[in-house]
Amino acid sequence: MMKGARKVAKNKFYITTPIYYSNSEPHIGTAYCTVVADTFARYYRLRDYDVFFLTGLDEHGPKLARSAEERGYTPKEFVDMMAEKFIKTWERIGITNDDFIRTTQERHEIVVQRVFQKLYEKGYLYKGSYAGWYCTPCETYWGEDELKEGKCPNCERPVEWLEEETYYFKLSLFSEPLLKYIEEHPEFVFPESRRNEVISFIKQGLKDISATRSTVKWGVLVPFDPKHTVYVWFDALINYISALGYLREDNERFDRYWPADIHLIGKDILRFHAVIWPAILMALDLPLPKTILAHGFWTIKGGKISKSKGNRVDPHELMDLYGVDALRYFLLREVPLGLDGEYSESSFHRRYQSDLANDLGNLLNRVITVTEKYTEGKVPEPSLHGERERELLDIIENSIKKVESSMENLNPASALTSIWEIVQSANRYIDQSAPWNLEKMGKRDLLNTVIYTLLETLRKLSILLYPFIPDTAEKIQEQLGYKDKQFAWDLLWNAKIPVGQRVQKGKVLFPKVDIKEEKEETSLVNINDFQKLDLRVAKVLSARKIENSDKLLLLEIDLGFEKRQIVAGIAQFYSPEELIGKKIIVIANLEPAKIKGYLSYGMLLAGKDEKGNLSILTVDKDLSPGAKVS
Ligand code: ME8
Ligand code: MG
Repeated sequence: MMKGARKVAKNKFYITTPIYYSNSEPHIGTAYCTVVADTFARYYRLRDYDVFFLTGLDEHGPKLARSAEERGYTPKEFVDMMAEKFIKTWERIGITNDDFIRTTQERHEIVVQRVFQKLYEKGYLYKGSYAGWYCTPCETYWGEDELKEGKCPNCERPVEWLEEETYYFKLSLFSEPLLKYIEEHPEFVFPESRRNEVISFIKQGLKDISATRSTVKWGVLVPFDPKHTVYVWFDALINYISALGYLREDNERFDRYWPADIHLIGKDILRFHAVIWPAILMALDLPLPKTILAHGFWTIKGGKISKSKGNRVDPHELMDLYGVDALRYFLLREVPLGLDGEYSESSFHRRYQSDLANDLGNLLNRVITVTEKYTEGKVPEPSLHGERERELLDIIENSIKKVESSMENLNPASALTSIWEIVQSANRYIDQSAPWNLEKMGKRDLLNTVIYTLLETLRKLSILLYPFIPDTAEKIQEQLGYKDKQFAWDLLWNAKIPVGQRVQKGKVLFPKVDIKEEKEETSLVNINDFQKLDLRVAKVLSARKIENSDKLLLLEIDLGFEKRQIVAGIAQFYSPEELIGKKIIVIANLEPAKIKGYLSYGMLLAGKDEKGNLSILTVDKDLSPGAKVS
């Protein structure tokens, strides 16, 4: 087919992640969802689809406002600061989102207001009052009967009693049409277990739900009654169409990409996506997304990983130690999409060591080595294929088909399993063909064929791996001697590695990483232990007493690279005024702690003698804020 002709007929693929609450930093759970979505986006781009991949942040609502206040920021300052952290983290993980939507952006708020106006005019919203329970961490309304021992059935934290004026959305109208739709569209909710969950939930009958808050200020104003702000979940769900320009003049993207092909979400937010969101879309007369794909949770020792439990795994730490692709690979390979996965340092290490370092890393290393040794580092001209070559090629062909069907069936883990069949077969092929013997036996033609076959296998592998571990895919092509990278699915069939191309030995793909020994209690620390502490000079910008406490002061400090608040138990020894302007020493990388309702981002150092005198540590000569102490 002609290139131009194909362009016109190009299929589109629109995939989204949830927009994460920006009150906590990216962690392995949010990274997971984003990496999976990125893998689909990259895969469909390779397959020549016109892809639109959306992620972003949920920046409104009482939870966000409270978090900002606890940290001593205005909501706006806080969301701007957090957005930067998310954007940087996703960049580091190689996320190729086409847009980044933030619900505080004007382009989004306009659409939310227009949607509300429209729903109101069409009679889907009516004024009433809400009296019931609300979970702020989950931003969810709960009925008395839904609570679990008086707590939120989702996160098990305390709920709050709300009584306020609200506009209800007539969700009850949609029980029948939704059930009918889901029954007629088996692919609408995936996996099947989640689909059944949604069906039985709807069958209990849907009740109208509160869609606005009259006691929350940090949100989008309801256009026909600005005493109200839009309930944060309605605000958030609309991101999937606001980013495309729905109800705006610049709506070309909407025409092109809606409905979404996949809304990738975690199982915790299934009802919002498979019940409320489709009802809103029906009310707007819009087509529904093709698939709501709900993945499972990462757990540690069986418990959900979450910031509130203090067991979050920092993706940056894993990347510092193992590299970006190790993180992506582990997340994608360890569990089939839809199931829960257990994270442990040792399972991560095992995947790295066996699959990446031993299987893939060694394969590349061996092949480049024999090419350098026997064919002057150039791609040799192959001669006729024998039995072994045909066998390997069959395996490759088969695996490619399996990768395609796995991706079609929403199972990237099984796609990786199929790719590793190629990796393992290629390692076997090199062992069996033993190029080092062929040289001695003078079998030059066969030696050339073997090396060519291996290089060509690596070329195909690089394309297959690209959606999953793109950095590695690029490094493989670099070592194969490609100046311009060649990533497209049809090149699996319509290209060959050019004879005569010079390979380039590069760095080891997956260097050995020593796993930390389980820590033992000991009174001695080594220098590495000490260096884990990020001690800094900070300047005290402001200080005040914390109400209802005679010990605590709330300090605002300048760390050079950022401003923070810390709580210090020194009120009996220092007055707020005498601290202002002082240069103090703080542990800057201490886990945040909540003290009397205030979050403390670090700790100042002070000494105390046996007589009970206390003195804060300060610097002898002047140093700028942020100076490292070591
Ligand atoms: O719910 N394992 O945002 P959120 C796997 N703002 N995935 C996890 C996880 C874990 N332990 N923890 C979180 C919200 N996730 C709303 C969404 S969308 C219109 C609004 C992932 O910050 C998972 O994908 O609580 C989950 O659905 C999502 O983070 C929730 O992110
Ligand atoms: Mg959550």
